[in-house]
Amino acid sequence: MTFKVYDDAQATARAVVECILLKMKEVETFSIAFSGGNTPALLFKIWLEEYSSRTDWNKIRFFWVDERCVPADSPESNFGNMKRQLLDNINACSSNVFPIDGEIPAAKSAELYSETVTKNLPLSGGVPVFDMIILGMGDDGHTSSIFPGQEGLLKSDKLFIESENPYSHQKRVAMTPRLMFAAKNLIFHVTGKGKYPAMQRLKQDASSGPAAYVAWNSSNALFFTDKEAVE
Ligand code: 6PG
Repeated sequence: MTFKVYDDAQATARAVVECILLKMKEVETFSIAFSGGNTPALLFKIWLEEYSSRTDWNKIRFFWVDERCVPADSPESNFGNMKRQLLDNINACSSNVFPIDGEIPAAKSAELYSETVTKNLPLSGGVPVFDMIILGMGDDGHTSSIFPGQEGLLKSDKLFIESENPYSHQKRVAMTPRLMFAAKNLIFHVTGKGKYPAMQRLKQDASSGPAAYVAWNSSNALFFTDKEAVE
């Protein structure tokens, strides 16, 4: 795993956008899966305000790493948040947007989304290949929607699975490491002092949580972090 450390969250988000734009140049269409939570909001804000004119938006196909089982208009919805914060501002073509259905049972949604991803991406050894996946990390060391204590899900041979937020018991649909490890570019976007303890544990211990498992077992995990999260 490689760490790129920036002065603050704004600089880190800029670096992630610039990495996306650089990698986009290499392909005709760019299939990227985004995580949810709060970190992406700054990424989308800076992308829109500072890089929109340099972005060939129609080249991008938008996918998700995970989703909460809530309606799209819920403030909890990862799709809904990206739609409000980014997609509605770039008039993204609906044929390039592949949301996870948060309004059907999680296990069924995970099965259907696995089929969607398999149908719409090139395969390598039977596993769909994203051009890029952007992961976050919770303060507890979770990633996607696989939480500490759910390590059994990490070795699933599925692409997406049903999971649950252990604190709220909210049902989730989560991308598995099997799919993450196939990506051409696997990015962690992690900022803020709240992440420092989990980042310290991750750097020292591959078994310190789901994010650590992914970071230590991938061939290409690249961290974009700020000083608060790692120093
Ligand atoms: C989710 C995310 C999750 C997120 C981390 C970090 O749906 O909650 O996919 O894995 O990346 O919880 O969240 P923050 O960006 O809010 O710290």
